[in-house]
Amino acid sequence: MKQMNKNLYKVLSVTKWAENLFSFKVKRPSNFKFKSGEFLMIGLYDDNKKPILRAYSICSPNWSEELEFYSIIVKNGPLTSKLKNIKENDGIILMTKSTGTLILDSIKAGERLFLFSTGTGFAPFASLIRDPELYEKFDKIILTHTCRNKIELAYSSQIIEECNTNELIKEFTQDKLTYYQTTTREDTAYIGRITDRIMNNSFYQDLSIKKIDSKNDRAMICGSNEFNNDLKNILLDLNFEEGATNKPGDFVLEKAFVG
Ligand code: A2P
Repeated sequence: MKQMNKNLYKVLSVTKWAENLFSFKVKRPSNFKFKSGEFLMIGLYDDNKKPILRAYSICSPNWSEELEFYSIIVKNGPLTSKLKNIKENDGIILMTKSTGTLILDSIKAGERLFLFSTGTGFAPFASLIRDPELYEKFDKIILTHTCRNKIELAYSSQIIEECNTNELIKEFTQDKLTYYQTTTREDTAYIGRITDRIMNNSFYQDLSIKKIDSKNDRAMICGSNEFNNDLKNILLDLNFEEGATNKPGDFVLEKAFVG
């Protein structure tokens, strides 16, 4: 039994990806159901035994027996300045009720699904791209991830590697999943903000794909408020309509959570 006391669950492993980025896994509580792309509240107790809770996207797909979370360390952040020290076998608070708009129910069917992310906004897409249902609904999935530096792409690169090599996952991602990573403050193959690369067409040229259009394509966005707004405006200009969980649309967005 992994539950230590009410709402407290045992950490299975912790991985450090960069000075300010880490991920950790918790055994999935029995009876906990969620939709790929959703988030829930996790946290720790402070020195006065009061819980500090923050929303975190579940990186794991809905069939996984583990729940993985990907976190940035916020300087003086009430939760992450404590969370950064967690280790295997420590207890973590998990509120087993998930929600969120970045789920398949929020978007209409289409040919291609574009998933646009920056920073820890990759987390909900780590879940979705490993869910076979995504590939039943769309012919092609095009996932973009933009970070300042190359090292910040390590976690997403590893998830993509798993999609391309894990026998079970590969079966549905093969020939359907495209990953496009850009950096803005360090030289890599593709430099610059995704919004700029969309507007100057280099995004389409690099991947040899046709331009995104609201008739055939759908999109999900997850990053900072500014990023979400800029990309939303690009899509609105192309006649995309925003959806919600109770009203599927052409695109949905959610702010990447930081603690
Ligand atoms: P940039 O370095 O040009 O600000 P952050 O770490 O600030 O959350 O940013 C993560 C990544 O998202 C960075 O590469 C950053 O680029 C990019 N970014 C931030 N704001 C926007 C925006 N409004 N539109 C597109 N990309 C953005």
